[in-house]
Amino acid sequence: MKTLKYYFAKAKKEKWAIGQFNFSDWSQVRGILAAAQNLKSPVILGTSEGESKFVGLQEAVAMRNVLRKKTGLPIFLNLDHGKSFEYVKEAMDTGYDMVHFDGSKLPLEENIKISKKVVAYAKRKGIVVEGEVGRIGTDASKLYTEKFQIKEEDLTQVKDAELYVKKTGVDVLAVSVGTFHGMDVTGVSPNLRMDRLREIKNKIELPLVLHGGSGTPDQDIKEAIKLGICKININTETRLAFSNTLRKKLEIDKDEIVPYKYLPEAIEACRQVVEKYIKLFTNKG
Ligand code: 13P
Repeated sequence: MKTLKYYFAKAKKEKWAIGQFNFSDWSQVRGILAAAQNLKSPVILGTSEGESKFVGLQEAVAMRNVLRKKTGLPIFLNLDHGKSFEYVKEAMDTGYDMVHFDGSKLPLEENIKISKKVVAYAKRKGIVVEGEVGRIGTDASKLYTEKFQIKEEDLTQVKDAELYVKKTGVDVLAVSVGTFHGMDVTGVSPNLRMDRLREIKNKIELPLVLHGGSGTPDQDIKEAIKLGICKININTETRLAFSNTLRKKLEIDKDEIVPYKYLPEAIEACRQVVEKYIKLFTNKG
C-alpha cells in the first residue's frame, strides 16, 4: 500500500483533496467505509481527542488494520486536534498514521516549540504531522442559529504561517480561512476567504488542510482545492445525518431493540454524505 505522504503529494500535484471523516462509533465507520469502497478512494478516518478516548486508540488502530486487510483500500488514521505532546505521542506510539497537533490557541512561539517536538518524534516513525496556525474555532457538535462570520484576527496570518512552517518542518498545514467547526442552521456557509488562501498558497509549498468542511458550498470547495487545499475534514454533517436518521427510525419503530435492525439506515445516511464529499473532493462525477 502507498503511504499517506504519497497521497498528499499526488493530491497536491493533481489538485484534489483527501477526505477526512471523523467517527466515534463503529457504525459511522461502516458508512464511511462503504463510500470509500464504492468510489475506490483513499480515505482518512479522524478521531478528535474526545472521539479517540471514547473509541480507544488501540481499538481504532486495530480496526484500521483489519479494514485495510479486508478491503485493500488505503485507509489512514489521524488524531484530529491533539492538544498536548503527551496525547499526540500516545497516538503515534499506538500506530496512528498521522497526527494533527493543534497549538493554534497557544502563543506562536509555544505552538512552534511543541510542534517541533512532535515532528522530531514523528519523523522517526514516518508519521505525517499536521500543524495549525490561525484559529478555526467553534464546536463540531453544534448547529448555529446565526450566520458565522470569522473575525479578521482569527484568520491565518501569512507571516506567522511562513515562520511556523520553516521552524517546525510539519508535513501539512491547517489554515483558518473562514470555515468553522459545526454548521449554521441554513446548512450552507459561504464564508471562505479565497483572498487569504491565495496569499498563503503563494508563500507556502505544503499541502494545506481545510477544517470545518461541513456546510461549505460546493463551488467554494472546488475553488479551495485549486488553491492548494489537499485534505478536507468533515464531521458535523455525517454526525447529523447519522443521528437524525437513527432518531427518526427509533421514533417510528418504537419497539425495535435490535441494533443490527435499526442501525443500517443511519449507516446508509452517513455513507451518502461521505460519498457526496469524496466525489466533490476528487472531481468525480
Ligand atoms: P465540521 O464538523 O464543520 O465538518 O468540521 C470537522 C473538522 O474540521 C474536524 O477537524
